Amino acid sequence: MQAVRSDVISTPPGLGNDLGGIRPANAAFLARPHRLLIDGAWVDAAGGQTFEVRDPSSDQVITRVAQGEQADIDRAVAAARRAFEAPAWSRMKPVERERLLHKLADLIEAHADELAELEAIDNGKSVVMARHVDIKHALEVWRYMAGWPTKLEGQTLPISGTLVPGHEYAAFSQREAVGVVGAIIAWNFPFLLATWKLAPALAAGCTVVLKPAEETPLSALRLGELALEAGFPPGVINIVTGMGPTAGAALAEHPDVDKITFTGSTEVGRLIVRAAAGNMKKVTVELGGKSPVIVLDDADLSAAIPGAASAIFFNQGQTCCAGSRLYVAERHYEDMVAGLSEQAKALKVGPSLDPTAQLGPLVSAIQRDRVMRYIGEGLTAGARAAAGGKALGSPGYYVEPTVFAGVTPDMSIVREEIFGPVLVVEPFADLSQVVRTANDSIYGLGASIWTRDVSKVFRIAPKLRAGTVWVNCHNILDATMPFGGYKQSGWGRELGREAVYSYLESKSLCINYAA
Ligand code: NAI
Ligand code: MG
Repeated sequence: MQAVRSDVISTPPGLGNDLGGIRPANAAFLARPHRLLIDGAWVDAAGGQTFEVRDPSSDQVITRVAQGEQADIDRAVAAARRAFEAPAWSRMKPVERERLLHKLADLIEAHADELAELEAIDNGKSVVMARHVDIKHALEVWRYMAGWPTKLEGQTLPISGTLVPGHEYAAFSQREAVGVVGAIIAWNFPFLLATWKLAPALAAGCTVVLKPAEETPLSALRLGELALEAGFPPGVINIVTGMGPTAGAALAEHPDVDKITFTGSTEVGRLIVRAAAGNMKKVTVELGGKSPVIVLDDADLSAAIPGAASAIFFNQGQTCCAGSRLYVAERHYEDMVAGLSEQAKALKVGPSLDPTAQLGPLVSAIQRDRVMRYIGEGLTAGARAAAGGKALGSPGYYVEPTVFAGVTPDMSIVREEIFGPVLVVEPFADLSQVVRTANDSIYGLGASIWTRDVSKVFRIAPKLRAGTVWVNCHNILDATMPFGGYKQSGWGRELGREAVYSYLESKSLCINYAA
């Protein structure tokens, strides 16, 4: 970390977490050795290596976890394969699989406060948000997915069977689990992303090897403990912590993995897709975004201003569908910039365990520096920081909530995913112009429209190239609502029926009954 930087202002007091007062369960958890979950047992990495885990609020090392590599991925995939074929899982009745998923959900519910605190310490997000967004939504996803095993129906097909005269056929389609799933996830919503992958995969009857992000491995490991307590058979859930280019790449390339599901950068998403080609794995990738927020001339600004602020500043802007480009009807432009700047300046920045803090640190020093590089590029290119623009010095990886006005479409802050609390605001003249500008991105994850005119919603929403279009809200997710991207924001969908079906193969059964 640099000692002196002109874009880093001096450290305000009280930005570090005091871990002395955390829940005894978490203090005990942090003190335990953190091994890999393979075949129902906690084991050391084959190479004996570990890596450190830091609290982003204070930059303190809080624990170490096992650093899995190729050999560990091989062991975990072999365990997942055995578990997939073993009667304990493959012959488990759907109703029993539901009961098991609900049992895990019960344990998550019973430990919700503790999990939220652990997530806050590991990721830097507010403990209040972790409890009322991350863990609450994850629990809803576990419950929703727990209901699926008994509902994975096939069809009776009315075939004509005309190819061989004189023969009669009955045909059926049925759904079967894809097999062994490799799940590689990002650090922005660690528990939630583990849930988004594991819950539908298990509901579908798959077995899983999960590789959490190296920045935030803890809540996934705690989830592994709870899954063992719930009684999942050995090998159904395996967790290998480690680095992306080693453990992650080994999983993506593994010839005995049937499906890979990934959340992270578009850059690594491309590597995943290439690696999957080796054995033609099924692939779901949830990648970046640069989601537009569109405030029309008839919008209610008293809702649009806090709505747009929350769209970008929620989770410190480290949200794949963050509303990072704001387009405002010309007559509201100045008011929106002023209103948002006021909101940005009023946000209380503080450590993740301070329940009154509204904006926490970014996940890592690397992410803080990446965001500060973008802010620097924006300023150099001539954008005006109407609010923010500085990092708050170390320890802790804080960046001020930042609102850029006076931007032009070619600036990197307008075109690229920043993944931090940085908003760009531009005015627009008419609806066709704003649709064109909103779609002028390699990404297509989310978009929101702020208006009181329902006819405009139906004129614009179909033209927006985005997987989710929100109206008078943003970042609203639900267990039932498919989530994913157009264009380079990814392949496939998370959540809802579509997520479960992405872990299922379709098998046709054709019976000749008049041979
Ligand atoms: P990343 O894409 O490198 O990391 C995500 C996951 O991929 C981690 O588990 C990592 O270990 C793994 N990984 C990394 N390289 C790999 C490889 N070669 N093979 C297999 N797995 C690999 O994301 P990173 O570096 O943490 O963040 C960079 C940028 O990506 C962010 O600034 C942001 O713009 C974007 N991002 C987007 C996310 C989203 O939700 N769409 C989440 C995280 C990052
Ligand atoms: Mg990376």
